[in-house]
This record gives sequence, structure tokens and C-alpha cells, in this order.
Amino acid sequence: MENFNQIESDILNKIKNVSDHNALDSVKTEIFGKKGVITELFNKIRSLDQSQRKEYASKLNELKTKVTEILEKKLVDFDQSEINKKLKNEKIDITLPGRTYFAGKIHPVSQVIDEVTSIFSEIGFSVEEGPDVENEYYNFSALNTPKNHPSRDMQDTFYLDHSKDLLLRTHTSPVQIRTMLKSKPPFKIIAPGRTYRCDSDQTHSPMFHQLEGLHIDKNINMGHLKGCLYYFVKKFFEVEKVKIRFRPSYFPFTEPSAEVDIGYKIQDGKIKIGEGDKWLEILGCGMVHPSVLKNVKVNPKQYQGYAFGVGIDRLAMLKYGINDLRAFFESDIRWLEFYGFDPLDVPTNYRGLSR
Ligand code: PHE
Repeated sequence: MENFNQIESDILNKIKNVSDHNALDSVKTEIFGKKGVITELFNKIRSLDQSQRKEYASKLNELKTKVTEILEKKLVDFDQSEINKKLKNEKIDITLPGRTYFAGKIHPVSQVIDEVTSIFSEIGFSVEEGPDVENEYYNFSALNTPKNHPSRDMQDTFYLDHSKDLLLRTHTSPVQIRTMLKSKPPFKIIAPGRTYRCDSDQTHSPMFHQLEGLHIDKNINMGHLKGCLYYFVKKFFEVEKVKIRFRPSYFPFTEPSAEVDIGYKIQDGKIKIGEGDKWLEILGCGMVHPSVLKNVKVNPKQYQGYAFGVGIDRLAMLKYGINDLRAFFESDIRWLEFYGFDPLDVPTNYRGLSR
């Protein structure tokens, strides 16, 4: 009769030395596979004497049960250690600080463009846009600006080519021309956008922003211009009373022309609009010159109206108490964090200097 003890210890040794799942599988085949050790031992039963069979079979069964148990235990051990390994590797350290994220802020210029656009939309103005790179005709000639006008000078204008045909628009007024050429009167539009001049100090930057306004219809006079501007300034600064000063001025494309200043004072470090004896120029305006209307094939005997160009950056400085225009364009994230607006917060109150 086979030495079952010897077989058992051989098998158990083999199992003991196994170190992973795959090796265990092949040891299992070596034992229980078609040609496995224990399978062959079972096959032998048939060839045994009746007298030996009983003892042999019972020893063999014992062996089988023992080996099966040990194999199963080994399998469970492997599974367990694999799970433990995974748990260890994939451990999430919940004590780590979370990833910080920065919510974006709305730049004061974008904020003011939104505010101004919505105020004018309420009284029937629609929004137009034009390109930053303009040609000489739209920026100057069509606006009745003669060749010798100082604003055409290299000192004032960024030209993009030697022929002086392409330039960075010096104002949003070319959008007046583009709008009137593309359809028929009446016109009632505003056009916000970037504008460029060779200029840089505390209140001037080479790139700045304007809002153009144009209202042309059959019976529009200077009273409408004043009414519209008073309405706008009161709404924008959220005040009942404003001090506005119309100063006679000159623009080639309006007649008569005026510049508009707004009265303010500084009180307890805060800026107060509509009171005091300080003035800040915020816009140029006037009645559209008949020559301009002729240039865009509008009959000045039938149609007339007003136009204005507001400095958007100036409005933002006044309303939100920002005193250096250049900071608007320095892209300093700390500045934006301080002066910028929460995208979901609709401002209702004036904030003043001392935020
Ligand atoms: N375009 C003028 C400027 O930039 C402003 C203006 C616009 C004046 C419309 C009159 C009418 O200074």
C-alpha cells in the first residue's frame, strides 16, 4: 500500500511553497487534474484487491479532504492579501487639504459695459459692433474729419500700414457709419468697444473703451440728447439728482458739439456723484453733422439726430472709486480680486472708494 503519509507531506510542501494565484492553480492541476497525483490514486482503486480497497479508499478520502481544505485556505489567504494590498495602495488620505479653486471675477470694464448696455436697451437702443482694426474712411473721412485734422496725426493714431489706410480705431464713431450704411433710418443704436490712441498717463491708456450712441429720426433735437444723457447718468450712478455740465466743443462729425462733465466730490474717502465742485469729463456728443448723413446716403433735410461717445473706463473709475486707469489693463489678479464682480451678484448699491 502507498505511503499516504509521505504523499501527504510531499503535497503539503508543494502547497506551502506556492506564492501566488497562478502557481496555486498549477499545483491544483498537479494534484486534482486528469493526471493529478490524487486522481491517479483514485484510478488505482479498481485494480486493488477487495481486502485492501476499504482501507486504501478511506485513507485516500482523508487525504483528499485534507488537501482540499488546505488548498481552499491558501486561496482565501491569497484573496485576502490581494485585497489588503489594493486597500493599501488605493488608500485615500482624507486628511489632505482639498484642491483650492478660484472663482473668476468680472472685470469692472465688462461690468460697466453690461450695466450701460442694459440701461440703454430699456429705452429702445439696440447694440451694434464694429472691428478694432478700421480703415481710414470709416474712422475719419466718412466722419467729416479732414486730412489736416490733428486726430489723424501719427502722434495720436496707431497706423498699421504705411499708406495710413488701416489703423486701430481711435473712437467707436465708425460704427455710426457702418450702421447707417447697412440699413435705412430711423437708427437708435449703441456700440460698446475697444478704442486706441497714443496716450498714456493716470487717466489715459493706449487702449480704452467707449460706448457710442446714435439716434437718428425725423424730429430729433438737442433736447432729446440732453434728456437721454440725464436719464442715463442718473440710472447709471443710481442717484436722484445729478450735476451735468454741457461745455461747447468741437467734433468734425457733430454740429453743434458739446463735451459733458459730471459733478462729484470726495467725502470721507468716498466719491459722491451729483454733488460738489469737481468735474470729470465723461463724454463727447452733438447733433450729427449733415455732411456725415450725406456720406451715408441719409437725407439731412428729412432726418437728423444726435450722437455721443462715452468713456466707459471713466465711468467705471467714477462709479467704483478706482483712481488709476492703467491698473485696468495690468492684469494683476489681486487687483481683479478686489475690484472685480462676482458673476452671480447683481450690484444694486454704489460701492464707493473704501471697499
Ligand atoms: N468720437 C468722439 C471722441 O472719441 C466722441 C463723440 C462721439 C463726439 C459722438 C460726438 C459724437 O472723442
